[in-house]
Amino acid sequence: MIDRDQLVRRYLNVAGFRRGAMRVLPRPVFDFTDGAAEDEFTLRRNEAAFHEPALLPRPLQGVGERDLSVELFGRTLSMPVMIGPTGLSGMLWPDGELAAHRAATAAGTAFCLSHASTVPIEALPKAGNRWMQVFVYKDRGFTRSFVDRAAAAGYDALVLTVDNQTLGQRERDVRNGFSIPPKLMLKVMGAMAIRPNWLWRMRERRDFTFANYTGIEGGADRNTLAGRMNALLDPSMSWADVAMLRRQWAGPLILKGILHPGDIEIALDHGVDGVIVSNHGGRQLDRAAAGLDALPAVAEAARGRLKVLLDGGIRRGVDVLIAKAMGADACLIARPQLWGLAVGGEAGVAAVLEILRRDLDRALCLCGVTRFVDADASLLAPGVVSPIKPKAIAA
Ligand SMILES: Cc1cc2nc3c(=O)[nH]c(=O)nc-3n(C[C@H](O)[C@H](O)[C@H](O)COP(=O)(O)O)c2cc1C
Repeated sequence: MIDRDQLVRRYLNVAGFRRGAMRVLPRPVFDFTDGAAEDEFTLRRNEAAFHEPALLPRPLQGVGERDLSVELFGRTLSMPVMIGPTGLSGMLWPDGELAAHRAATAAGTAFCLSHASTVPIEALPKAGNRWMQVFVYKDRGFTRSFVDRAAAAGYDALVLTVDNQTLGQRERDVRNGFSIPPKLMLKVMGAMAIRPNWLWRMRERRDFTFANYTGIEGGADRNTLAGRMNALLDPSMSWADVAMLRRQWAGPLILKGILHPGDIEIALDHGVDGVIVSNHGGRQLDRAAAGLDALPAVAEAARGRLKVLLDGGIRRGVDVLIAKAMGADACLIARPQLWGLAVGGEAGVAAVLEILRRDLDRALCLCGVTRFVDADASLLAPGVVSPIKPKAIAA
């Protein structure tokens, strides 16, 4: 049985988990997690954006125990880092989505299930704070069926991803001949053969598939399912679809993939409760702005009227503090939790969350901030472009 704290000591940081995942996963599977669209500029920009801002600590604030908790959509999370939706987590660890959900719940944070999970919507136990991510399909009835299923299963929030209406060109996957299910090309088989631990671990789940789609036309045939799923996506999706989902879904509605501040007022008019400032981890439009670069203007437009979350490039706890100072209420991670999952299943995800929690706690302490929710732009060194006005901070 792998222990969370052993993994924390062994891997030390998210970069350590990434290297660990590279060692245990077949190369095409690792590249599926690590890669992004085209030249991967946006992927690199996501991470680099966090290296720009500099913090101005105020150590004499009498900081005692830090409080990392945040209120989101009527629930309290123990920390401002949630697990974002990732398709096919079950390819990294058997029933990976269940493992990651357990880790998030134990850490007191939220877990978002992907439309492309390898376990069905209904399989996630009713525990913790569960969000469901959906797409808009040409067949709106099919979209509505996902929402009905999420409601019947008691999910806490609905996340509509809006930046995936046509699939990004992920060239590592193309070059690796990566497909679902893995095609038995020599190259792919070779990559798998040199990762016996992964092969052994996956032996009972070799038939993993997109569990929420097995009922679509053409049935559960794994050889054609991925292609048929992509053909369902509708580029003509519009705000009318947001209105449709708003009428159907009574709980918190969150739009994932917002970068433009001009969308905020429209989202508010449509009764949206939150946005995730995101470029899909650079996997869709290469050259899209980094989430962190887009964040201040979005937060300024929101003026606290809806929750502003951020994903993309969070690799350290201090990144979460920087995001907060630039206007985010909380953050989500995708690749870091996948690398944790690949290395140690539930314990691996728990270790990644714990590392980020400890990092963030330390950064708050060093900055002289007791409550995460109080961190604001006054922490940022001048020269950092942030239109978010700092609140008066207690002298
Ligand atoms: C392997 C992988 C699969 C993903 N699958 C989905 C998905 O099914 N739905 C979705 O909305 N976003 C998906 N994303 C995007 C993430 O939710 C998130 O926006 C992005 O990866 C955040 O950046 P980070 O990986 O740097 O944390 C996926 C990302 C990765 C790396």
